[in-house]
Amino acid sequence: MKKAIYLFFALVASTASAQQSSGGANVKYQPVINFSAQEDHQHMLKQLGIKALRPGPSGDEKAPNPANYNEALANPYPELPELLTLKNGKKVTTAEQWWNKRRPEIAEDFEREVYGRIPKEVPKVSWETLISEKEWVGWIPVNAKKLVGRVDNSQYPLLEVNIAMTVVTPANAKGPVPLLMMFGPSELPAPAQPPKESLEKINAAFKALLIEQDPSLKEVFEQYPAYNPIASQVPAFGPRPAGDPPTTHQLLAAGWGYALIEPGSIQADNGAGLTKGIIGLVNKGQPRKPDDWGALRAWAWGASRGLDYLETDPAVDAKWVGIEGVSRFGKAALVTMAFDQRFAMALVGSSGQGGAKLHRRNFGEAVENLTSSYEYHWMAGNYLKYGASEATFGSKNANDLPVDAHQLIALCAPRPVFISYGIPEQGDARWVDQQGSYMATVAAGPVYQLLGARDLGITEDYKTAKMPAVNTGLLEGELAWRQHDGGHTDAPNFKYFIPWANKFIQGK
Ligand code: GCU
Repeated sequence: MKKAIYLFFALVASTASAQQSSGGANVKYQPVINFSAQEDHQHMLKQLGIKALRPGPSGDEKAPNPANYNEALANPYPELPELLTLKNGKKVTTAEQWWNKRRPEIAEDFEREVYGRIPKEVPKVSWETLISEKEWVGWIPVNAKKLVGRVDNSQYPLLEVNIAMTVVTPANAKGPVPLLMMFGPSELPAPAQPPKESLEKINAAFKALLIEQDPSLKEVFEQYPAYNPIASQVPAFGPRPAGDPPTTHQLLAAGWGYALIEPGSIQADNGAGLTKGIIGLVNKGQPRKPDDWGALRAWAWGASRGLDYLETDPAVDAKWVGIEGVSRFGKAALVTMAFDQRFAMALVGSSGQGGAKLHRRNFGEAVENLTSSYEYHWMAGNYLKYGASEATFGSKNANDLPVDAHQLIALCAPRPVFISYGIPEQGDARWVDQQGSYMATVAAGPVYQLLGARDLGITEDYKTAKMPAVNTGLLEGELAWRQHDGGHTDAPNFKYFIPWANKFIQGK
């Protein structure tokens, strides 16, 4: 047994080192640059001519530079970039002008300065089903599939990218179902277990193998004859726990499917990973240029490739695939929705800075947090300019950004977007700036209206609009808001999200 394991690892290690070696057949490939996050961050600052960055405010209220939580000081730049005015000063008054002129201008600014561009030639992804089986989720029979999307690396075989995605659909559906794609670990819900008799055989063989490896174990097994090294994993059907059922159960019970797509299988969540993953593969192991994509855009790209697969899956109604994520993946969900118009709806959970929160707000986290070496990898390199205190171009701050979060939400219009937050008392810290995200959602409204959809339906201007009370949703329109009374999660809003989204599905 042990021998077999060693042999396996030895094999894996030797093929890996053969691929990495700069001699032999692979001599034409430049080796992968192995920067730390700090080194990569420095490298980007140098490309941009930045000598110093302002430090980000601290989440710790006792730190020397604590984040501002005084609403009176929260809006140093209350004027947001114009939503419905072209760069040449002309007003946008028709849907056609939005689609053909204004929307492309805004998208270009976001790509160049904020999230980065997807390179023109990203290699193809081939999806393969690794496991397909019948499972039960609660009392619902499902078809569950574990998939891998292999990215063609023939141009640079030193790196491999394999996108991990799980797709679960209700087995008894009468036709193709709507589906929510969620950023998270790609895991089958309830892997089918071999029946009892087979498990007994497995345990007998396993014990024999262990005794062969270590004869003293014979005595142990004799002393505990009923003990089995591999226990049955059949879940016990106890009383149902209090509270809402898991979000995946809620989706299936409503006749939806869901997919789990694993961000880390697309792009690592750190700066050291930027020469690897899909960003590194396209750059052939070299560091980014200032307008290259960051991790948020890479995760969004991966979600789009997941949707490519779903378009081929007869169990799924690909016209009604939504995207969901929380926190950094809430940002990724909003970016996905903004840039891929095939996604029909989004549930954006506690997305904060770089998500639904206005960059121009001074409340909780700030531009300067996203430019630090812990978080800059989410963004395009160019975004670092807006945290610069000393540079060849002088200095820049949030107010120099050509766009702000209301325009990111507007890029999703007229498709349904649900902005979700929790409450600080339960752990959705003020750091994420619920109010600043509400203002952005209000300010995105005019584009929804222009395109014949409904916005939040409130009459105040974004400058004076105050968040509705906790647990009071604004769920009438395609643009929706709800702050639940839970923490840093969007789970408590699923039971509002599903019927809200169903209205649009059934209406069409
Ligand atoms: C930090 C960061 C947030 C981010 C969050 C997360 O708090 O400042 O912007 O959303 O981490 O993703 O966990």
